[in-house]
Amino acid sequence: MKLGNRWKHEALIAGILMAGICASCGPSEQGSPTGPPFRPVGTVEDVMHDVVYPHAEVVWDSVGTIITVEGTNEIRPGNEDEWMRVMQSAYTLAEAGNLLMMDGRARDTEDWMAYANGLIDAAIQVMEAADRRDDQGVFDTGGELYVACTACHEQYWEKPPSAMRP
Ligand code: HEC
Repeated sequence: MKLGNRWKHEALIAGILMAGICASCGPSEQGSPTGPPFRPVGTVEDVMHDVVYPHAEVVWDSVGTIITVEGTNEIRPGNEDEWMRVMQSAYTLAEAGNLLMMDGRARDTEDWMAYANGLIDAAIQVMEAADRRDDQGVFDTGGELYVACTACHEQYWEKPPSAMRP
């Protein structure tokens, strides 16, 4: 009986301590109840406009061919800084896939997650091509990246994407 009481006493103290810890966490309205306390700052639209799109542009604009009356101009990263910029943008796009999977942004747990994963896969391909300093590879994987964008847009973007490239 003595032991039993002692156990109860300690359980009570533990309970009070736990309550204290939880009170100091405060009620959280964001994030999953069990996961890390993520703080989504922007909407999906904001993430698209201010994170995804500008970095996709860096990738798409880094390699290509411009044909004018004066002749053909091949565009490719010309030095290490320019290659680094392609790498940084591809990396940001890959991690942006995770931003899209966060609570509050993900539209469902099925197709949306698959498309966000598709963005990660495509961006990793761009990273690998940039790492090899392979301009044709960046061009080709940039095409795959575009496919990953439009795949999700076809299903989840309400208005038809006309004004902007993807
Ligand atoms: C997992 C889904 C998903 C992927 C992948 C995705 N988008 Fe989006 N995107 C959306 C949705 C949904 C919208 C429409 C906004 C909304 O409904 O909240 C949107 C809107 C946009 C917009 C318009 C934003 C504005 O200001 O109105 C741009 C630009 C854009 N996306 C670019 C891209 C590019 C570039 C890629 C690929 C590199 C991409 N998106 C990949 C889901 C996605």
